[in-house]
Amino acid sequence: MPEIFSQTDNKIIRVSPGETILEASRRAGVHHTHVCGGNARCSTCRVYVMEGLENCLPRNEKEQALAQKLAFPDTIRLACQTRIKGDVVIRRPVVDDLDIEIILKQVEEGPGSKLGQEKDLAILFTDIEHYTQFAEAFPAYDVVHVLNRYYQTMNEIIVNHKGVISDVAGDGILALFGVVEPRENPVWDAVSAVRAMKEALIPFNRYLAQMYDRSFGIRAGIHFGGVIVGSFDTGMMSKIAAIGDAVNMASRIEQANKRYNTQLLISQPARDQIQGLAQTRKVGDARLKGKSGEYGLYEVVLS
Ligand code: FES
Repeated sequence: MPEIFSQTDNKIIRVSPGETILEASRRAGVHHTHVCGGNARCSTCRVYVMEGLENCLPRNEKEQALAQKLAFPDTIRLACQTRIKGDVVIRRPVVDDLDIEIILKQVEEGPGSKLGQEKDLAILFTDIEHYTQFAEAFPAYDVVHVLNRYYQTMNEIIVNHKGVISDVAGDGILALFGVVEPRENPVWDAVSAVRAMKEALIPFNRYLAQMYDRSFGIRAGIHFGGVIVGSFDTGMMSKIAAIGDAVNMASRIEQANKRYNTQLLISQPARDQIQGLAQTRKVGDARLKGKSGEYGLYEVVLS
């Protein structure tokens, strides 16, 4: 008789012939959530198959339809539809009312952008050269006004290059390329966006010079790597966020511009993507703050 080990409940569950995971789980006294009554319509019974995926029978039509709508990876299965032929280890992510609320919203909204998905993306960090001096010299009201103008200008450029702003903090922007729609070369999109941002600073600086007798420059860092990307909902706002070491790496690369007196630095994996498309120059093998080892950094010549 196949067995399920539920990590969530720390329980071994024996499965009788013909039973689904949900049926076995409930027979064993587990409060396994199943809002739609086991009809493949709510996804609240979902389980992560941690081990033994090969022992799960293939998805039936109903499960396949919901899995497609929510972009489930193979390892997420509907307990109400899944039968097993050997031992599996599972985890139930839905354990309370808040989980149910989150998951029902995903089903309502589909497609599965809210689930974390692993993707190779171009990650761009930018900050403003001379921002600190500007922020120190003028009232907060002016700083906020100028930053809003800057964000609006740069957001338009990023969107035009098929990117999306994931986060802003002070004068810093984190943008992701390759997440909104499949792109042939998201690194090239990111580099082209930085080039356009630099051009947009010319009229922007005319405005700054006239109003404040100041000008901004831009510093940018790009890395290409695998991250977990998903949309996160706080109730008040939702955003596309990327999580993973590659994001920290891009941030460190951007910070290295100060050391090399450069405007756009990219990592070796990013450079591999744009070879032949842009002129690059190796600035060195750098140690990056907070990272071990040395990393090849390349300057992209923007003008
Ligand atoms: S109980 Fe609703 S999908 Fe399984």
